[in-house]
Amino acid sequence: MREIFGLWLVLLGGVALLGAACGGGGGSTATEEAAQGLVQFRRTCGVCHGQNAEGMPRLGKNLHNNPFVASQTDEALVQFLIEGRPATHPENTRGVDMPPKGGNPALTNENLQQIVVYLRSIQ
Ligand code: HEC
Repeated sequence: MREIFGLWLVLLGGVALLGAACGGGGGSTATEEAAQGLVQFRRTCGVCHGQNAEGMPRLGKNLHNNPFVASQTDEALVQFLIEGRPATHPENTRGVDMPPKGGNPALTNENLQQIVVYLRSIQ
């Protein structure tokens, strides 16, 4: 009985290791990151920018072929997303707040980076 239990543990350990090797592992491609970014984008940004970033009248702008996105480095874009652009900001053209982190404080830096990869994929 003890042996069988031990064998089970070894088997379970093996499965867990395999899972770890196949899952995360850091080797995610830009395509995977962009896909993750789109998931995050739809959750947080889609309400104002549209589910496919096509923009909404009087709300978030179209982010396809967007000159502002194109003019920023990845780091600057992440920083922009952290800060947002209040309606009182001199560069705000719509008179509507772009809230910090799109109003979702739960977004991590990794999430924001994935969103930036997604934004790059639609330029
Ligand atoms: C509550 C609505 C709202 C949400 C949610 C929101 N945005 Fe915005 N966003 C805006 C508005 C409004 C503007 C335009 C501000 C202006 O007129 O300059 C804007 C501007 C931007 C710009 C600059 C575009 C340009 O041409 O200057 C980017 C990039 C952007 N948003 C990305 C995002 C991302 C990514 C998210 C999700 C993390 C997000 N926004 C969530 C409303 C929103």
